[in-house]
Amino acid sequence: MEGNIVYSAVQPSGNLTIGNYVGSIRNWLKMQDEYACFFAMANMHAITVRQDPAELRRRTLELAALYIACGIDPEKCTLYVQSQVPQHAELCWVLNSLTYVGEMERMTQYKDKAAKHADNINMGLMDYPVLMAADILLYQTDLVPVGQDQTQHVEIARDIAVRFNNRYGETFKVPKALVMKQGAKIASLQDPLHKMSKSDENPNASVFLTDDRDTILRKFRRAVTDSGSEIRLSGEKPGISNLLTIYASFAGKTTEEAEREFEGKGYGEFKPAVGETVADALAPIQAEQKRLLADKAYLGGVLAAGAERAYKAARKTLSKVYRKVGFYQGD
Ligand code: TRP
Repeated sequence: MEGNIVYSAVQPSGNLTIGNYVGSIRNWLKMQDEYACFFAMANMHAITVRQDPAELRRRTLELAALYIACGIDPEKCTLYVQSQVPQHAELCWVLNSLTYVGEMERMTQYKDKAAKHADNINMGLMDYPVLMAADILLYQTDLVPVGQDQTQHVEIARDIAVRFNNRYGETFKVPKALVMKQGAKIASLQDPLHKMSKSDENPNASVFLTDDRDTILRKFRRAVTDSGSEIRLSGEKPGISNLLTIYASFAGKTTEEAEREFEGKGYGEFKPAVGETVADALAPIQAEQKRLLADKAYLGGVLAAGAERAYKAARKTLSKVYRKVGFYQGD
């Protein structure tokens, strides 16, 4: 079938924010009924910056539990941990020989991360896009739902696929990025001109999916607003526009409906209402995540089954790749 394989992954580093929820998890949810989806915990990408081992392991499980709690159904899609499927590293190695150092040095995220982690510019950091290409290409992926910041990586995956196919003959499907809609982009509560990030240094800038009710309410109370008092969507009101977007996303309304609802009301009433709505929406997810994390046997079983399914699909592609490049594979 054409156009039916979806691949995406998230790094289990840092807590996910409501921006990740609206921007990625929710979109994954919509796709799981229509496509054959592979969703991974990209722990191999995570170690390109320093990680505490115990924390990395814990966050990997937390992330898996969170996905399931949000409604990702492990019966419908393949939910797995990247490092449990060895073909990712194996394909990455082959693709490395088709990728130029110069093109990796020019990647925006590499330059940003190299500047941020100047004391740890390791080979993995530079190779990050090739591992991501391996992730995607292993599954003959059609669509890669990603945020705007990852489109350059998907572009490189396409280039590498085309390059391989040209040199060795048709092997990989050339994937397409599916960029999340601009409207659902959620900004920092402290600096609404920038994206809400899970690694923001200001703890009030991001609302995490694991934040408790009081923390959520406090962060929204402290959210930066704009001059004036009107609650409407406007380029001149990035703070209020961001809060309206968040409110609408979590209340299941359009931003127009949200504007009408708060017409004539002040910021003092609006900000707590946004906080309450987000806290109410997250409460059942948090409860379910907690329940799943307490049931390690179930969670381990789900991830083992996911890895097994991913392994089978990945093995097919890798074996083809090994044959094409001339690797001896026994008789
Ligand atoms: N680099 C992605 C991010 O940080 C995570 C990722 C790893 C990914 N492998 C992927 C996303 C493959 C899409 C497809 O957001």
